[in-house]
Amino acid sequence: MNKVKKGPQTWLYPMPILLIGATVKGKPNFMAAAWANIANSEPPMVSVAIRRTRYTHGGLNVGDGFSVNVPSTSQAREVDFCGIESGSRMDKVERCGFTIFYGENKSAPLIQECPLNLECVVEQLVELGTHSLVIAHIKETHISESCMTGDDLDMSKMDPLIYLTSPARQYAQVGAIVAEAFKVGLKLK
Ligand SMILES: Cc1cc2nc3c(=O)[nH]c(=O)nc-3n(C[C@H](O)[C@H](O)[C@H](O)COP(=O)(O)O)c2cc1C
Repeated sequence: MNKVKKGPQTWLYPMPILLIGATVKGKPNFMAAAWANIANSEPPMVSVAIRRTRYTHGGLNVGDGFSVNVPSTSQAREVDFCGIESGSRMDKVERCGFTIFYGENKSAPLIQECPLNLECVVEQLVELGTHSLVIAHIKETHISESCMTGDDLDMSKMDPLIYLTSPARQYAQVGAIVAEAFKVGLKLK
């Protein structure tokens, strides 16, 4: 297959799209973030790249509680709004009609309408060019009961929104299952 060089791009497909919640100036605020990932298993940790100019950045100091909320496809409009409007100008919680709840950490606002919420505490900020890589401990996981089958999270009920970065710049739904992970590869062993 022939290849075309495109220079260094921030392209990974697909990306999650998340609502990062923090308390800024005493009020809950949420921003969309796609540059996020699980960073460690023991202890469970997450990383998310937040540009230093974001209003939310002000609520992400070492030791601060914050939240990672996984939205479903029905929330695309609210997610996008939280990615194009700033809490420095308006109350996004009110405009989006989010119902806020708190777990142990009262500085980590969580969105009731999102099927999955991670309660986190900032461990470290790694300053890169434009962004701070926020590395955090996951302290608790909240799942909407309606998105469970038995005791487990049911991905199909959760219906998570995913993000297709440039040049598409679109939101999408998880597609068909094509194979069983940690199993299909055994055939090549
Ligand atoms: C699809 C999408 C993905 C985004 N991903 C990130 C991201 O990973 N990191 C970041 O700093 N900003 C990201 N943004 C931009 C912020 O969400 C946006 O600047 C937002 O208005 C910041 O809100 P705030 O000023 O209230 O913090 C993204 C925006 C969209 C629409």
